[in-house]
Amino acid sequence: MTERRPIVVDCDTGIDDSLALLYLCASDDAELVAVTCCSGNVEAHQVAENNRGLLELIGRGDVEVALGRAVPLVRPLEITPETHGPQGIGYAELPSGRRPLSERHAADLIAEEARRRPGELTLLCIGPLTNLAVALEREPALPRLLRRLVIMGGAFRVPGNTTPVSEWNIHCDPDAARAVVHAWTEAIEADPRVPRILALGLDVTEQAVIRPDHVVALARRAGSRPDDAIALGRGEDPMHATRSVASNPVVRFVADALRFYMEFHATYDGFYGAFIHDPLAVAAALDETLVRTEALAVDVETGGALAAGQTIADFRGLWRRTPNVDVALTADADEFLARLIERVGALAERVGVAANLSNVAP
Ligand code: BDR
Ligand code: CA
Repeated sequence: MTERRPIVVDCDTGIDDSLALLYLCASDDAELVAVTCCSGNVEAHQVAENNRGLLELIGRGDVEVALGRAVPLVRPLEITPETHGPQGIGYAELPSGRRPLSERHAADLIAEEARRRPGELTLLCIGPLTNLAVALEREPALPRLLRRLVIMGGAFRVPGNTTPVSEWNIHCDPDAARAVVHAWTEAIEADPRVPRILALGLDVTEQAVIRPDHVVALARRAGSRPDDAIALGRGEDPMHATRSVASNPVVRFVADALRFYMEFHATYDGFYGAFIHDPLAVAAALDETLVRTEALAVDVETGGALAAGQTIADFRGLWRRTPNVDVALTADADEFLARLIERVGALAERVGVAANLSNVAP
């Protein structure tokens, strides 16, 4: 039987966050313990609405969703509706979640779940690291208690996507990111068996590019009709597409959310497709062979007019510090995309079948 790896996801859903959650729920080798919400792409309360709605859509409304801190530790809140849409899910719409929000604060949930199963829980952070920094204040032993911390964040050998040197998740709360990497350094220095952070920065996540033909393949895998679920640019202007008319509700969500993200990338990055940062981080959390890493000492710049939010990795060992992060340097993007299409396509198919059955009168 496949080992099911227990995972708590801290996210700022977010178009690629939502695809990451779908990948996780579609994976037999993952057990989604809970979802915690931070501000980033949109405000934390909207993130919680998105997560509850998405889980409801795929029949996982039972999963606990907990709200975290609404603002970064020190800096003022920044959000990015131009990247992810006013609600954070592009042109898509979601049902309301039936399960009420958790009574636990995200930081307490992270600390309590880590304590409940020492050495077993993977914590996956795909938004700013605010909630984790607060959790570390409440439970400083977290680096020892977790099986692994996996983050989507940073730009190590490549330019940033928010400033010339900073990646969005780190940019939003550099003080939290610094607190996290320092906590891991201290823990590893005290006990070298403590696992380093696995960080997927833009170096690898910008290799994970989804295009309309991948969405078509996913729609076909789901048995959705018609399969051109997203504006394909087949001689048409993709900017003038309408909402998806796919028969499958998960495919409709994916197509409507991703079309917004693809339009954003067409405007700012010069291609009609999208970097799917967060799903790659999920895939690597479940199977680290998808990335090649190097153990490095990493720190985060929090001050400075030009370099705030920069993730600095000491590739030459000049600091003579203990490596605290396994920095992902390359990724098998083709294998990742194949898995995404297979897993999310199969999940969509199951959801579609269940929806059709419940529509059949007894
Ligand atoms: C990160 O920023 C967000 O916009 C995405 O969801 C991803 O987590 C990429 O820089
Ligand atoms: Ca994110």
